[in-house]
Amino acid sequence: LTGTPEWANEVKRLAREADATILAHNYQLPEIQDVADHVGDSLALSRIAAEATEGTIIFCGVHFMAETAKILSPTKTVLIPDARAGCSLADSINADDLRAWKAEFPDAVVVSYVNTTAEVKALTDICCTSSNAVDVVASVDPDRDVLFLPDQFLGAHVKRITGRKNLHIWAGECHVHAGINGDELTAQAKAHPNAELFVHPECGCATSALYLAGEGAFPADRVHILSTGGMIDAAKVAKSKEVLVATEIGMLHQLRKAAPGIDFQAVNDRASCKYMKMITPAALLRCLIEGKDEVHVDPETAELARGSVQRMIEIGT
Ligand code: 13P
Ligand code: SF4
Repeated sequence: LTGTPEWANEVKRLAREADATILAHNYQLPEIQDVADHVGDSLALSRIAAEATEGTIIFCGVHFMAETAKILSPTKTVLIPDARAGCSLADSINADDLRAWKAEFPDAVVVSYVNTTAEVKALTDICCTSSNAVDVVASVDPDRDVLFLPDQFLGAHVKRITGRKNLHIWAGECHVHAGINGDELTAQAKAHPNAELFVHPECGCATSALYLAGEGAFPADRVHILSTGGMIDAAKVAKSKEVLVATEIGMLHQLRKAAPGIDFQAVNDRASCKYMKMITPAALLRCLIEGKDEVHVDPETAELARGSVQRMIEIGT
């Protein structure tokens, strides 16, 4: 049954019966994206979760995303089809690490990427996503130190754009994006000289994309460093008929739907996030039937984290 039209009808029927809305991140399996009520990037999904009128949110994504929805909507039931769907980037810093880092810079403003646990968010001043990281850092008093965590490549991107010298960057990374490397990108750039290039800022190759642009391998106006939601917007106005995509491969599904006339190719077609892919059609059906896995955030932690997440959803487009 799973993945078939009957499965999709059953999922929709059970969701209606449970007064639930289904949210799916752009990296989810195509069947999950197609059955969801809303598909988007981390920022868009957080905003939708904050405003949902249904009593239950079913989050098809990874655990920190579902936790963020619970922080924003504490009175709602938040379910994730498989609570084991973690994130290697969120695991790269814990609350004790952050406490120790803050002790070194007691006056600094802490800006955390949304890919963090609720405990880390509770120690944070402002959260951000890849959509609004630059705007969030730009909103901080230029004279104050900023501790930016946990992604070193997104941090380097923000530092490059803002030119901010007092931005201190944690050395975390996402194993999927870090694995999309400069050599592959260089080879693809040479093989597709007329293509545009969409690069997620979590990629280890973001710097080499800009380098290639500087070398003329890619005209600078064909290189775009974008969040997953930003990629969809850019696809709709792309001038080239060929686009190379440097991010998790789940992204290709929405891109192909948004711009069917464009040939989208992954820079690295092995860049698949095993955590995102734990949300299978069977797991979603089980979630609706059994009402599991429910996401809980300790109320005191959620209260502390809420301010930083709310500031995140207020900043940027
Ligand atoms: P965005 O959807 O915010 O670009 O995030 C990408 C990501 O890696 C989520 O885990
Ligand atoms: Fe985390 Fe990377 Fe997977 Fe995104 S792609 S959920 S950052 S491990």
